[in-house]
Amino acid sequence: MDSVSSLLGSIEDVGRDPSRGGYSRPVFSTAELDLRSWFQQEAGRRGLEVETDRNGILWAWWDTGSGNEAHDGDSRRGALVTGSHLDSVPGGGAFDGPLGVASALAAVDLLKARGVTPHRALAVAVFPEEEGSRFGVACLGSRLLTGGIDADAARNLKDADGVTFAEAARAHGLDPAHLGRDDEALGRIGDFVELHVEQGRGLIDLESPIAVGTSIIGHGRWKLTITGQGNHAGTTLMEDRADPMVAAAQVVLAIRKTAAATPEARATVGRIQPVPGGTNVIASRVDLWIDVRHPDDATTAALVESIHGQAQKAAAFEGCTAALTQESVSGTVTFDAELQRQLQLALPGAPALPTGAGHDAGILAAYGPSAMLYVRNPTGISHSPEEHVEPDDADLGAAALADVLERLL
Ligand code: GLV
Ligand code: MN
Ligand code: MN
Repeated sequence: MDSVSSLLGSIEDVGRDPSRGGYSRPVFSTAELDLRSWFQQEAGRRGLEVETDRNGILWAWWDTGSGNEAHDGDSRRGALVTGSHLDSVPGGGAFDGPLGVASALAAVDLLKARGVTPHRALAVAVFPEEEGSRFGVACLGSRLLTGGIDADAARNLKDADGVTFAEAARAHGLDPAHLGRDDEALGRIGDFVELHVEQGRGLIDLESPIAVGTSIIGHGRWKLTITGQGNHAGTTLMEDRADPMVAAAQVVLAIRKTAAATPEARATVGRIQPVPGGTNVIASRVDLWIDVRHPDDATTAALVESIHGQAQKAAAFEGCTAALTQESVSGTVTFDAELQRQLQLALPGAPALPTGAGHDAGILAAYGPSAMLYVRNPTGISHSPEEHVEPDDADLGAAALADVLERLL
């Protein structure tokens, strides 16, 4: 039986990013594929039957009965599913995603050691491109599974090198024609429970190692393209410029001001790209990506509208134009009340906690009961190499997940 830390220790060198620090494990990169192989091996070691579905989601099955005897067609319908993701943000931490996967494997060990024989099938799932760090759309795997993104739109998503999601999927053994809503796979999810590292200060403040998730605040991503006139940095007088970088700077400040003036709002520009990007070149275009979040979906929409208006004004003032496109939006999600109650009963004393971070559990919540467990992060920092989980807390998390799964099995 492996501890969560020893499981995570076996992948600690996969996808390290020497220039950014931390880990960069974008979907279908060598690192993410190595992590998928690791998962398949670990699941196989536990006697779980692993399959990859047509959207690239991995499922490791522990079927009903004492062993892992052949399942009949329907015995996996309405299964209990746990799991998370293995891809990361650029320069991310070691726990966002992998903690949920490693804890699920450790929970299977614990259930087996307790002599549990599942009365319903149990699966550990790994969702691809949860972070959307390569193709831009957060939770792409679960959105494809549920039909939350149009399959054609997904096929045409491009990464920074212009590779489409269809091309990347094909290169990794998926048939792009078969991407999209998968009712059979969806029908197999009876309840979904995702364990995740807590990504803020919630559990530090509550002085608890574990919490039960209550809700995810609505969030979305938009791409703003500001177009100006590319030109020479030395020969173009200041008054003759149409510099989209100057407009972009105004937009970044306007976004902070707008969000700061709206209680509970969060808005971020974490990625900005001047084209062509030369020190002695006035950019012809600047792309910037805006992440906006608020518990009230109408307020999120109003914030984005306000930001768009301010961007157009800032662009016009610099002789540029601005165009905004939506990349992905998820409304505020409240997790299933009865499933939350079951988690609370399995984990007496565990506090309830909302989150500002997005998760596949939030996407799946619209299709069936979905719930989350959080494990304390003593730094309170995430999407950064400083994200951390103490080994004892990680093992408490796996034991809590096992308690929850045992109750639900
Ligand atoms: C994922 O962690 C997100 O909240 O963007
Ligand atoms: Mn995550
Ligand atoms: Mn994340």
